[in-house]
Amino acid sequence: MIATEKIEAAKEKFGQLLEEQLRRVEEMKAQGDFIDYQSLDQIIIGVCGGDGIGPAITAQAQRVLEYLLKEEVKTNKVVFRTIDGLTIERRAAENAAIPPAVVEELKKCHVILKGPTTTPRKGDPWPNVESANVAMRKELDLFANVRPVRIPEQGIDWTFYRENTEGAYAVGSQGIHVTEDLGVDFTVVTSQGTERIIKAAFEFAKANGKTRVTAVTKANIIKTTDGKFLDTFREIAKEYPDITADDWYIDIMTAKLIDEKRRKDFQVVVLPNLYGDIITDEAAEFQGGVGTAGSANIGKRYAMFEAIHGSAPRMVQEGRDQYADPSSIIRAGAMLLGHIGYPEKADKLYRALDICTTTEKKVVITGRDTGATGAEFADYLMKTIEKLK
Ligand code: IPM
Ligand code: MG
Repeated sequence: MIATEKIEAAKEKFGQLLEEQLRRVEEMKAQGDFIDYQSLDQIIIGVCGGDGIGPAITAQAQRVLEYLLKEEVKTNKVVFRTIDGLTIERRAAENAAIPPAVVEELKKCHVILKGPTTTPRKGDPWPNVESANVAMRKELDLFANVRPVRIPEQGIDWTFYRENTEGAYAVGSQGIHVTEDLGVDFTVVTSQGTERIIKAAFEFAKANGKTRVTAVTKANIIKTTDGKFLDTFREIAKEYPDITADDWYIDIMTAKLIDEKRRKDFQVVVLPNLYGDIITDEAAEFQGGVGTAGSANIGKRYAMFEAIHGSAPRMVQEGRDQYADPSSIIRAGAMLLGHIGYPEKADKLYRALDICTTTEKKVVITGRDTGATGAEFADYLMKTIEKLK
């Protein structure tokens, strides 16, 4: 093919991407408000174990949630539904990020508790299917990735609002190799997508007595997409005169997070997808690593709660999955409880997690038979909750 033909082929592919994204804009415009879970007759919690250690730790999280929701389960106000099939084997067999039958099941639930899923990389034995996380965020339009990091003794109390459906991730697997020598990826921003994540961050701040919301971009360089994110942030900030709104560039923000004197000042941070991905791993590291953090993926109709860490296939190969630490997915479970309208139960679970993993630590998990199993940890947690009553 001569160059002009290659350019034409690339333009055609680019045109299709634009059409898809404009369709997404129309869908966002047509969307209603957030669902009110408590007004439903029944709340369906879907549970996907995922891969590797996922089923083992997710089962423990489900036990703890069932314990906290005993009454609600008895009266059928809340039901748990197991969703099979979100495994790398099945995804590989169907060559799908999420098998269509699983998507259908997910859409019958209101909220989802999800264990880690394998994201294939080039060179893995699996076909290079898209990440199940990313696909689920897009499929269920889970636009707000909320990741809290709290270290009370260091004065750290951060909540990150990572945009979850746009930016570098929107068409991250659909870049174009124009010629053998030239490859192009695309970053996507929309007014609707930007407004909803920034509003969600300010609304969270307002509802939780936070006094500062910070936007993080690289708008000095990435002028169109990050520029729009920042302009939108400044516009929306005017609607919240009691909240201080400031903005940082991602490079210096990353540095300031390790500055002990300055980092305490951050409260709520709102940022585009890729920056949010990177900075939330850095932030979680202060708290004890990504294994300790939970993550909520929230949309107007659906929400999904997950651990940030991976599926640790080696632990399963070595027969150690029952020793895997379930605290991250249990923390995600606490976020789920808060989200569906049980803030007191969520609070109890957070307090018990603090006691069991930081202050008291009577049961310690090491990841091997030198420590407790996930089930023993969950027992300890439930006993601790019992005492909080
Ligand atoms: C995360 C993860 C995912 C992401 C991966 C597993 C696709 O790193 O949830 O932060 O990049 O978003
Ligand atoms: Mg990440």
